[in-house]
Amino acid sequence: MNEKDIGVDYSVLHQIDSPANRLIRDSIWGKENDIGQQSFITPRYLDALIERCGINESTYLYDVGTGVGGPAIYIANQTGCSVAGVDVAEVGIEMAGKLAKASNLRSKTEFHLADAMNAPFEDDTFDVAISLNVMNVFEDKVGLFKEVLRVLKPGGIWAFLSGTFDMPDDPEINRKMARGYLIPQYYDSLPSYRRMLKEAGFEIDEIIEYVSDFRVQNKKWGDAYKKHYDVIVEEQGKENTDYHIEYFDTYLSLIDEGKAANHLLISRKP
Ligand SMILES: C[S@@+](CC[C@H](N)C(=O)[O-])C[C@H]1O[C@@H](n2cnc3c(N)ncnc32)[C@H](O)[C@@H]1O
Repeated sequence: MNEKDIGVDYSVLHQIDSPANRLIRDSIWGKENDIGQQSFITPRYLDALIERCGINESTYLYDVGTGVGGPAIYIANQTGCSVAGVDVAEVGIEMAGKLAKASNLRSKTEFHLADAMNAPFEDDTFDVAISLNVMNVFEDKVGLFKEVLRVLKPGGIWAFLSGTFDMPDDPEINRKMARGYLIPQYYDSLPSYRRMLKEAGFEIDEIIEYVSDFRVQNKKWGDAYKKHYDVIVEEQGKENTDYHIEYFDTYLSLIDEGKAANHLLISRKP
């Protein structure tokens, strides 16, 4: 399977106000917890992240794979920090600009259409870099970590929340998980993340497991696709909809077998 066959973009999901996506989002988050996230995170995750990374109004924050910028805007709103988000999806970056404007945070936020493997920033720019449920899309994670290291100031923090996997050696399970959210996935285990962070030059400060809430969010995604099946099929196609149901069901089984979790890894540039 190559990237062309499976469509490497989030343009369907990033249209957050389309009729089907509205139904999906209302099922998962309700109005209260919908902050424009395209992931498993909740405001609760972000509040903990803000505290652990010490993000405040003097922080210059980098969000790797910002999606439609919802989490970045939430953090800017809560803390008064300035934030730069980067994403390869044009629809996401456009939507991020609209959401920032609607939140009156245009002056505190900037969103760049760019590949995080080649970030459009000078060396030693940011105090903190974050990434929320994006890591699996990077095949060369050491390369990505080195690029994050480059744009962080010395002493800067790199905190990412990611699925961590102990993937079974089963081609069928691998097939079902291969293109989460329509994008190729390159899964890694927690020990592998530790090793790669050190190899890139980071010092690891803290690792926190967020599995129970993560399971709830994961199940809600799958349930939303099943509950609104007909409307989603009509808007986003049967193949795509069936694939997502299979993906979330498989993901949930892996969580229940103890083979998939969600970890926040916090490290520091020496
Ligand atoms: C699961 S979404 C998470 C979005 C956001 N972090 C959130 O929590 O709402 C993953 C995002 O990674 C982006 N992405 C994929 N490859 C990327 C790359 N090479 N550089 C930057 N962003 C990338 C996708 O376009 C998508 O918006």
